[in-house]
Amino acid sequence: MPFSIVVGAQWGDEGKGRIVDLLAVEADMVARYYGGDNAGHTVTVEDRIFKLHLLPSGIVHPHTIGLLGNGMVINPAILLNEMDQVRQSGVPITNDRIKISHAAHLITPGHIALDTALEQARGNQKIGTTKRGIGPAYTAKVTRSGLRMEQMLTPGKFEAAVKDHINQVNSQLSAFKMQTPLDAEKIARDYRGYADILAPYITEVGLFAYKALEQGKSILAEGAQGTLLDLDHGTYPYVTSSTPTAPGALVGLGLGIGTAKRVIGVVKAFQTRVGEGPFPTELFGDAAVRLRGTGENDWDEFGTTTGRPRRVGWLDAVLLRYAVRVNGITELAITKLDILSGLDSLKICTSYQDGDEIYNNLPWGPADLSQYQPVYEDIPGWDDDVSSIRSWDGLSEQAQSYIIRIEELTALPIKIISVGPERSQVIIR
Ligand code: IMP
Repeated sequence: MPFSIVVGAQWGDEGKGRIVDLLAVEADMVARYYGGDNAGHTVTVEDRIFKLHLLPSGIVHPHTIGLLGNGMVINPAILLNEMDQVRQSGVPITNDRIKISHAAHLITPGHIALDTALEQARGNQKIGTTKRGIGPAYTAKVTRSGLRMEQMLTPGKFEAAVKDHINQVNSQLSAFKMQTPLDAEKIARDYRGYADILAPYITEVGLFAYKALEQGKSILAEGAQGTLLDLDHGTYPYVTSSTPTAPGALVGLGLGIGTAKRVIGVVKAFQTRVGEGPFPTELFGDAAVRLRGTGENDWDEFGTTTGRPRRVGWLDAVLLRYAVRVNGITELAITKLDILSGLDSLKICTSYQDGDEIYNNLPWGPADLSQYQPVYEDIPGWDDDVSSIRSWDGLSEQAQSYIIRIEELTALPIKIISVGPERSQVIIR
């Protein structure tokens, strides 16, 4: 696997961390390419649970090197805290193991305050952001007024730049009556302190990755969020402000077209999303609680970053086919099959109906799905507890039929089936 990309095929939270953890065994390097600490990846290793927001999940394998690409927006306070936590769990975190792109952008308390103020101002049109400052940090990047990691290498100038930036944010915030001004002096001092610690980790990640590939090393790129949250290809405007789709891995790491041969799309066995926006197969009431769980288990459907209950529904094969197309997915990995055990029957949405018209593919992308009725196919459920099964042949005929039907609907093989949160709870085909 010289350069492979793991990408979320739905609205994020597909269990990508779980799949990356498995594939990272064979990778020399693991990389994040877009997004920031809006992402939350849970990896369970024996009795240790790692909840990672910025570091690539594969970093829990001590043989890997972790790359944070130029496409990312990084809150240094969160990153340093996460580095400490991982270190305390016994996984070494040094500048030999972690490389942060000089061209990645910084998130500050200014961006976070703007994210909160903008959401409040949207009223009932709110997006439901994670309030981590993601949108404002990317806005600053696009308007060419952002702060980049490389500025941390000249501490005096950096401190002055942070102070200027916070003063500018304060004047923007004055338009939102409910926001109190931020302390520019203090934030600038704090950021200078972060710079002192992070400077040794900053490098030209694109060049580093390119040389590694030239030497025959392998890199596993870890998508954050998911296809339907992509700024261009998602359910706009209910999207994140970056490019989680697979082509983003090239731009967000500084690698050229043609580098990636394997794109693994991760799909949950049912559909979930956090925040606002369209969701044609959404379930409510008892049926929703059955899929979401009550929150007492770590794997129940509550946001890793915000703790919000996720919206849940039946698997949507129309949206999945769309994800296959825009990412160039070459194989699928399915997660959480165990959650469906014990249901009498299951549904898969195979097409959408609008009046007399049936659509197998989205005619206009996913931004507005309000006119479509999902067309469902019923699939018999299964009683066997799949969480203890480790081979394809061990699955009941009904559980196999569910997987095979998804393969038929997407014309792709499902090569990995995850049946529980533990590293070992997986079926490889
Ligand atoms: P933002 O990325 O914080 O701006 O949030 C924009 C939308 O993306 C909101 O609906 C969030 O709930 C959603 N979102 C952002 N990151 C994730 C993620 O890692 N998993 C699931 N949803 C996410």
